[in-house]
Amino acid sequence: MRIYPLVFKHVFTKMDPEKAHYFAFDAIKLMQRVGLTKASRKFFAPDPKLQRTVMGIDFPSPFGLAAGFDKGATGILALSDIGFGHVEIGTVTGQAQPGNPLPRLFRLVDDRAVINRMGFNNEGAEVVAARVATARQRLKSDYAGTRPVIGVNIGKTKLVELDDAVGDYLQSTRQLANHADYLVVNVSSPNTPGLRLLQSVESLRPLLSEVGQLADQVSGRHIPLLVKIAPDLSDEDLVDVATLATELGLDGIIATNTTIGREDLSSDAAKVEEIGAGGLSGAPLKERSLEVLRQLRELVPSKMAIISVGGVENAADVETRLAAGADLVQGYTAFLYEGPFWARAINKELASRR
Ligand code: FNR
Repeated sequence: MRIYPLVFKHVFTKMDPEKAHYFAFDAIKLMQRVGLTKASRKFFAPDPKLQRTVMGIDFPSPFGLAAGFDKGATGILALSDIGFGHVEIGTVTGQAQPGNPLPRLFRLVDDRAVINRMGFNNEGAEVVAARVATARQRLKSDYAGTRPVIGVNIGKTKLVELDDAVGDYLQSTRQLANHADYLVVNVSSPNTPGLRLLQSVESLRPLLSEVGQLADQVSGRHIPLLVKIAPDLSDEDLVDVATLATELGLDGIIATNTTIGREDLSSDAAKVEEIGAGGLSGAPLKERSLEVLRQLRELVPSKMAIISVGGVENAADVETRLAAGADLVQGYTAFLYEGPFWARAINKELASRR
């Protein structure tokens, strides 16, 4: 019998979604601290045949946890222990900030979706960098074989003007790049005013070039650099971003972030309206995210990695993304609905299909 769906239905759905998130995350972290997740690491670990090398990095599994779940890098070890092949931490901003007023996370259970307008609540690059550094050392010493990978996702501090955005991203880069296995420039969250305007080629070119240069300079090695894009880009914008990424020799693209669209939802329209602004994620994003992946794969060279994210719920979804040309796949929202055995179940089924 699967216990988590019962806990979700009878406990979590009665709690405020953000409180439920911290409660569940704290529980996983506690299990790690008392040694439980380490003791059961073998049970959770991906089958070695799932290993793959992408952007020059060895990943234990193609499946990882998307940005936003562990914004502060407080649970990297715990999340690694429960089977995620990589954990993308962040979004981290140059300065600490509280994010948007509560409530800012809403479940649409009938759609297996959520809407969030968290607004990059985080403790800032300096604090988070110290945690990432410690976690990375622990992963290096703790794992004998291929260790889980740490991605670091950076964004803009809300109070920093859009014109000064590059400086803010550079501040995060200076603090974090050396501790990251790969670095992601997030220009696609709908919850920081104006942020998605940075997806325009004129803004994106200097941003990506300067972040890439500084990342390599401060770390004395090449840090793979990716850009994370929105599902709401037009076909034309997608071509522009893909062309720029190719021109700059970027290591990869992460597609996609949450959508501002609200089409084809089963949830009560009045309820959705009442929730208001925010990014929609989960099952309703599946189709568009896959479509963006297919288009991108046609547009960028095969050596450029694509990490596909959006509406991934199970191993079949992961397989579909890999077959459509993704090098890695991530998920977030289905983790809230499926619980702590989710990554393990996906890895197990992926391995049994090989
Ligand atoms: C996110 N996501 C996200 N992405 C990002 O780049 N930086 C962030 O800080 C966040 N924060 C965040 C918070 C919450 C509550 C959710 C649900 C999502 C987006 C996430 O990484 C992913 O791109 C989308 O959620 C689509 O994937 P899923 O959730 O459909 O698997």
